[in-house]
Amino acid sequence: MQILERSIAELVNEAPLRARIFEEYAIDYTCNSKLSLAEACKKNNLDPETVINSLSKIQLLSHDPFVPILLGALSDEIIAKHHTYVREQGPRIQTLLEKVGRVHGEKEPRFLELKIIFEHMHLDLMLHMLKEENVLFPYCKQLEQTKEVISMHCGSVAMPIQVMESDHAQARAQSAEIEKLTDQFSPPDWACNSVKVLYSELKAYIEDLDVHMHLENNLLFPAALRREDQLNTQVKKEPA
Ligand SMILES: [Fe+2]
Ligand SMILES: [Fe+2]
Repeated sequence: MQILERSIAELVNEAPLRARIFEEYAIDYTCNSKLSLAEACKKNNLDPETVINSLSKIQLLSHDPFVPILLGALSDEIIAKHHTYVREQGPRIQTLLEKVGRVHGEKEPRFLELKIIFEHMHLDLMLHMLKEENVLFPYCKQLEQTKEVISMHCGSVAMPIQVMESDHAQARAQSAEIEKLTDQFSPPDWACNSVKVLYSELKAYIEDLDVHMHLENNLLFPAALRREDQLNTQVKKEPA
């Protein structure tokens, strides 16, 4: 079978170092990824030949199984791009929901439900991002910079990661509720411009959230776990 037809998960399972290349191209390589290499290239707008060429070099790399993802740079990028987006767009959408609910809430009560769910989701996300910025991301940076085992007050980086993943799952459930209430972001026939703008802003907000959570769940968090594991293994190999 040609490499393009094989699934990403299978390719990584066969040679874990391939994850290094998939991370470089922001291709999801977790067990959940059912895409073939060809489909993943298409989805990410990548030239398949370039990706195959990068994958072929993996044989020449050292046997170090850890992916040298830049934890600090990725954390900073997530804050600059996605946390800033949530902080800027959330209040805008809340203002639109306020207006649409006030003017059309009687005709379409789902606008009022939408307002409540979005407010909850946005508030939860604001708190969630503070936890990442004040606790988890600084620890990820420390993990990257140190050459020795560092201790976290809660034991392992796995603990805050678990909390963040649970927050993400809740955000996904809230997003699904919003998609349902907006009929997958299709405004009603009678919708005025405010409703149309609201639906397209909500869609963009949730799309950005999907990318944001993908970067954390599938790239940043696994890389932080691997780095912590690597430091622990080094200590076991070099007893004092
Ligand atoms: Fe985040
Ligand atoms: Fe997050």
